[in-house]
Amino acid sequence: MSQKIALVTGGTGGIGTAICRRLADDGFKVIAGYSNAEKAERWQKTQQKEGYDFGIAYANVADFESCQRCYEEIWSQYGTVSVLVNNAGITRDASLRKMAPEQWNEVIQTNLNSVFNLSRVCLEAMLEQQYGRIINISSINGQKGQFGQTNYCAAKAGMHGFTKALAQEVASKGITVNTISPGYIATDMIMAVPEEIREQIRQQIPVKRFGKPEEIARTVAFLAAEDAGFITGSDLSVNGGQYMH
Ligand code: CAA
Ligand code: NAP
Repeated sequence: MSQKIALVTGGTGGIGTAICRRLADDGFKVIAGYSNAEKAERWQKTQQKEGYDFGIAYANVADFESCQRCYEEIWSQYGTVSVLVNNAGITRDASLRKMAPEQWNEVIQTNLNSVFNLSRVCLEAMLEQQYGRIINISSINGQKGQFGQTNYCAAKAGMHGFTKALAQEVASKGITVNTISPGYIATDMIMAVPEEIREQIRQQIPVKRFGKPEEIARTVAFLAAEDAGFITGSDLSVNGGQYMH
């Protein structure tokens, strides 16, 4: 049987790297999406030294045409993407009264429009092969809200609506669509939070630590598996007990 292809946007980031490695361990041919070429090339070499042979593909996830071009390149070089992980994301934190329109738009475009962009360009070939897994990386803050993140919380909550609607559209075609909502995970993204606030947040987590990227990766692997075909339209919380609902 031929090797299934997985595309992980933001594949060179903290959580993305763990997802790429875990999916490769599970036998997928993994392509990491990136927007920063220099970082991606360095990343690819480091991963190679550690035994991982990843493809890399440029896409500005906020831009539909860039995603289309990315998909065409992947398709001609590797074939149909069977697993799409919409993982790329950014924060531009500020309370609403201090938030510039650019901070709102950048986050909505990168964190939410991206999910439309990539899912739209990958879906046709998944429909043709009657098989696919779309996994959207949302956030605990899309479930509970967070001071200073109206933009981010709106985008991450929007993913849930998208997931449930698309899951219904493609359920009979062998394609599942799910969301994972990580809590605070130890990557560069949370290092942007001032240390004092970060420590307060850590104290609020019942397991008393931040999550590890590998703990999100194993959840992705669970949903990406062939025998996860009965799980669709769901949202899996992986948050150390910080938010239960
Ligand atoms: N709840 C209630 N009130 C709060 C508050 C909170 N969490 N944080 C600040 N305030 C209050 C302050 O006490 C202050 O009150 P007064 O005006 O009465 O003195 C007021 O709000 C200050 O408001 P400002 O708009 O001036 O706040 P600021 O500019 O100093 O800081 C902020 C705002 C940059 C958003 C800062 O609070 C912050 O960085 N918060 C952390 C946000 C966060 O958790 N981001 C997560 C990033 S990681 C991630 O997103 C990954 C993931 O998915 C989990
Ligand atoms: P990270 O290390 O900062 O990685 C973010 C990745 O997103 C980077 O690889 C970056 O790639 C990519 N990216 C950003 N803008 C892009 C764009 N316009 N086009 C293409 N790629 C872009 O952050 P992380 O913690 O791993 O976060 C990964 C995902 O998990 C995000 O969606 C985040 O919201 C979500 N999440 C994180 C946490 C957490 O606590 N860390 C919690 C819940 C959810 P380049 O460097 O190439 O631009």
